[in-house]
Amino acid sequence: MLTPSRHTKSAMKHPNSVLNIHGLTKHYGGVRALTDAVFTLQNGEHAAIVGDNGAGKSTFVRLITGVEQPSAGDIQLNGQTVSFSSPLNAREQGIETVYQTLALAEDLDVPANIFLGREITRFNLGPLSFLNHKAMRDQSIDMLATTGVRIQDMSESLRGMSGGQRQCVAIARAAGFAKKLIILDEPTAALGVQETAKVEEIIKGLKQRGVPLIIISHNLRQVFDLVDRIWVFRQGRIICSRRTVDTNPQEIVGLITGAIDPATLALEVAEAC
Ligand SMILES: Nc1ncnc2c1ncn2[C@@H]1O[C@H](COP(=O)(O)OP(=O)(O)OP(=O)(O)O)[C@@H](O)[C@H]1O
Ligand SMILES: [Mg+2]
Repeated sequence: MLTPSRHTKSAMKHPNSVLNIHGLTKHYGGVRALTDAVFTLQNGEHAAIVGDNGAGKSTFVRLITGVEQPSAGDIQLNGQTVSFSSPLNAREQGIETVYQTLALAEDLDVPANIFLGREITRFNLGPLSFLNHKAMRDQSIDMLATTGVRIQDMSESLRGMSGGQRQCVAIARAAGFAKKLIILDEPTAALGVQETAKVEEIIKGLKQRGVPLIIISHNLRQVFDLVDRIWVFRQGRIICSRRTVDTNPQEIVGLITGAIDPATLALEVAEAC
């Protein structure tokens, strides 16, 4: 008789999961950046990753988006085990990421940045290809409109834009292309109050559209405003996850700093850990 594998059993346990991660590990020589991470994201769910500096949050994102290869572990996207050879490969499979360091080209205008690496061409004859600027401009306007972002002059290069406007372009690009999942690594860390509010509006719009999202943030007010579940990273491990409605900022701070041992929390929590 066929018995289900460990991973099939896990997919059965989370039949609606977009992302299912087991044993994800990354060691850089002697540095244990991430060890044995277990993580799940449900369809339409918005999750936050929190933890102190150096806790392993960005490492986790780099591993699940093909920037780096894991030392060990298994990543399932919609029930299928995946292995991304590059960020482009992850994008092709529906995962859009806005990294902690924005990957935008300062000298190019908004449409060129939105279509960076996936330009629309009119003719594509190998080296003789002609970009379809009008199509890229029209689609960029639509994408920005979906996210509510307004850019006065689409032909202006990003060099003349504020940090907030650039961040909105990066998020609009991710939101426009994401088929399965959006990941934002500290999207508002460098932004002012108004620009932060704009980015948070975009994130709420994605929730309404049912686009699953993972956000890394040090801003607990923002995390509690935006997400369904909070995952706590500590010293290279995922120590716990809590539904936002079942926890509070004090408890999350305690888990981040180590003042609260997740093993001492209620049974419901222990099961989620
Ligand atoms: N390329 C690398 N080589 C060696 N060590 C690394 C490398 N990248 C990350 N690390 C180490 O791995 C650990 C986790 O780093 P990571 O960037 O994932 O932390 P983080 O949780 O994103 O922190 P922050 O909140 O500061 O962004 C740190 O100790 C870091 O120094
Ligand atoms: Mg980081």
